[in-house]
Amino acid sequence: MPFTFQSRLPATGTSIFSTMSALAKAHQAINLGQGFPEFDPPKALIDSIHEYLKKGLNQYAPSIGLLSLREAIASKLEVFNKTRFDPEQEITVTSGATEALFDAILAFCKQGDEVLIIEPAYDSYTPAVLIAGARPVYYRLPEPDFHFDAWEFRKLISPKTKAILLNNPMNPCGKVWTKSDLDQIEQIVLEHNLLLICDEVYEHIYFEQAFNSMLTYPRLKGHVISVSSFGKTFNNTGWKLGYAVAEAALMAEFRKVHQFVTFSSFTAAQAALADQLADHSWYDALRSMYLSKRNVLIEAFRTHDRELKPSEGTYFQLLGMPSNALGDLEFAEKLVKEAGVAVIPLSPFYHDAYDPKLLRLCFAKSDDTLKEGARRLCQTLG
Ligand SMILES: Cc1ncc(COP(=O)(O)O)c(C=O)c1O
Repeated sequence: MPFTFQSRLPATGTSIFSTMSALAKAHQAINLGQGFPEFDPPKALIDSIHEYLKKGLNQYAPSIGLLSLREAIASKLEVFNKTRFDPEQEITVTSGATEALFDAILAFCKQGDEVLIIEPAYDSYTPAVLIAGARPVYYRLPEPDFHFDAWEFRKLISPKTKAILLNNPMNPCGKVWTKSDLDQIEQIVLEHNLLLICDEVYEHIYFEQAFNSMLTYPRLKGHVISVSSFGKTFNNTGWKLGYAVAEAALMAEFRKVHQFVTFSSFTAAQAALADQLADHSWYDALRSMYLSKRNVLIEAFRTHDRELKPSEGTYFQLLGMPSNALGDLEFAEKLVKEAGVAVIPLSPFYHDAYDPKLLRLCFAKSDDTLKEGARRLCQTLG
């Protein structure tokens, strides 16, 4: 008799990113779908990881991360966020942001708790909340501008609400939360004594609208865990390295889970990243590069008489699809086959498969790829 089991994630299938990438490959399509950069990491970073491997950094790192990297993160926070976090007690290196988010949710959310998820939401949030045994409660940002309505949001808070998951800058919709949005979130967190788990992996990719980390809110110290990823910043998503920052008591609890999820992360890569973080000029250059790419993409659509609302941050741009078209999943499939371009439909970012008839394009690609992708899409969209 086969082993019988009850799935902890019955509604979870293969992620849309894997599905669209496989389709793109099968149809030799331009892949504007999965969100990874087409460019190499900084050369110095690659050279330095080689050196550290040759020097023998091939065994376990400390569970909380190499001290040199935690110190480098603390200095970066001081320069960019004007906040001081203790590398000994308040910063932990993780195997990517996904692991850090999972650890944070597992550490603080349990059966009987509710966790507020703001949609459209990154796909790892709901499974992590469910595995923790908590109940996800969803707030949908209304399109087309995805503005935050604190009044509506507050209606979802109950005595069971334990945490809010906030992604800023936001994948997939490219929203950068305004200071006034964030002030309202601060108010809500303090009023209801909540935990705020902030996914700030695109912290260095924002454009006209300034990015404000929740770590810069002094009154929220003790309420915030901020999670970031080196992959987005240094074009090395495959290294799966990130970190979490929180006040010491929260961090101590976070570390209990982290130590039994991965224990520690790739040692030589941590040493190399510690050196890389000293180069503060990288971040401005990164922002300028992505601003230019976003503009290339928008201009390419404009030359084909299609006006897009520019993304405020991340390396994603939304594109509307005809409202009378197929569902967005089928439409995205049609685009791969007929236009030879893979994109990501938005409905998988909603728990109820809500379909706002929007597609996400990744512009972390060469200018030529972006122009050709836009040309093909416009031809098929008509
Ligand atoms: C919003 C968001 N959070 C987290 C992640 C995962 O980051 P990492 O690859 O460091 O786990 C991604 C990756 O696409 C993302 O877009």
